Amino acid sequence: MKPLYLDNAATTHPKPESVYLAVMDALRSGGSPGRGVHNQAIAADRLVFETREALAELFNADNSDRFIFTENATSAINLALFGLLQSGDCIVTTSMEHNAVVRPLKELQKRGVNIVKVSADPMTGIVERADLQEACLQQKTRLLLVNHCSNVFGSIQPVSELGEWCQKHGIVFMLDGAQSAGSIPIDFKALQVDLFAAPGHKGLLGPQGTGFLYIGGGVELSPFVFGGTGADSQSPYQPKNLPERFESGTMNLPGLAGLYAALQFLQKRGVDEIRKHEVTLISKIVTGLKGMKSVNLYGTDNVMLRSNAISFNLVDRDPAEIGYFLDQQEQIRVRVGLHCAPDAHRTMGTFPAGTVRVSPGLFNTEEEIDRFLQVMHVLAHESHC
Ligand SMILES: Cc1ncc(COP(=O)(O)O)c(C=O)c1O
Repeated sequence: MKPLYLDNAATTHPKPESVYLAVMDALRSGGSPGRGVHNQAIAADRLVFETREALAELFNADNSDRFIFTENATSAINLALFGLLQSGDCIVTTSMEHNAVVRPLKELQKRGVNIVKVSADPMTGIVERADLQEACLQQKTRLLLVNHCSNVFGSIQPVSELGEWCQKHGIVFMLDGAQSAGSIPIDFKALQVDLFAAPGHKGLLGPQGTGFLYIGGGVELSPFVFGGTGADSQSPYQPKNLPERFESGTMNLPGLAGLYAALQFLQKRGVDEIRKHEVTLISKIVTGLKGMKSVNLYGTDNVMLRSNAISFNLVDRDPAEIGYFLDQQEQIRVRVGLHCAPDAHRTMGTFPAGTVRVSPGLFNTEEEIDRFLQVMHVLAHESHC
């Protein structure tokens, strides 16, 4: 039986063939970006620059220097939060956040940062824009941070006018784009986003160990890792210019080479087209699961407000049991449990057992979804009897 990978919200699989080749090429080519002026070092530097440029093009940003490479979305989020917030600051965020946000904020709370969480609707997982705005105006808010798409329930938050509104009110606007980057079209200028964190290994189709933080023009962050930038060697101080200020240490060149190949692939395929394909798969899953009597499907009925993370449970069955059966008996890979987002489960009433999460990706076909639904149909029927 051929394995069926439906865990793309964790990391996309497979990657485009060009990504595998680019990683291997970079490892074979050698050279460290920003270190040395021999041919291999310059080629490595060039590759990093082109990757930044490709990101700026994909997200419609003017200045590629403002894309800071990180190991993943978590380190990008940490860089933003610890670089910006100080004792006495207030942050408004949502009840749908991943632990990559919740845990740094818990640490910052110990250091005197005030956290306000706005609850999402328990049926749809969507937060009202007006509720976020009201919460921001209750006190002097420094940062509004919103999970763009839920990694558990797929809810896409209404972020379109928040950037402009935040700018008017002197609030920094940040998105956790871990589940949206590469999966839904994103235009930084239209969104007027100040900070955007994303991994390279999910919707962007790159390798693990890659990610970035975009820092908009008006935002000043303090670094918390120092040294090892390769430039300005005579100075004992961290450089002031971007991106070097936040990129200490030797870079993950093979990872970035893979990410560059992935970005080229994305540009050619078009994020609009990818979204269209994923919406077809999402609709098929949502319709299929909704038609099964003993399935509880969570989240909005509007598939246009859903990204590719779809959560459900079978009545009176432990999600872990379902995941184990799908994996061991049917070679279908899904994820079960809390998916690193316990607050989102508390919001939707699925804490503490969590859910079964199925997340299709660009390389899944409608036939594969049919196979998944057939298996679920049998499981649901057994549960019903
Ligand atoms: C919404 C969200 N934020 C942050 C992260 C953390 O991403 P990474 O594992 O790349 O650090 C994830 C990962 O699943 C996520 O889904």
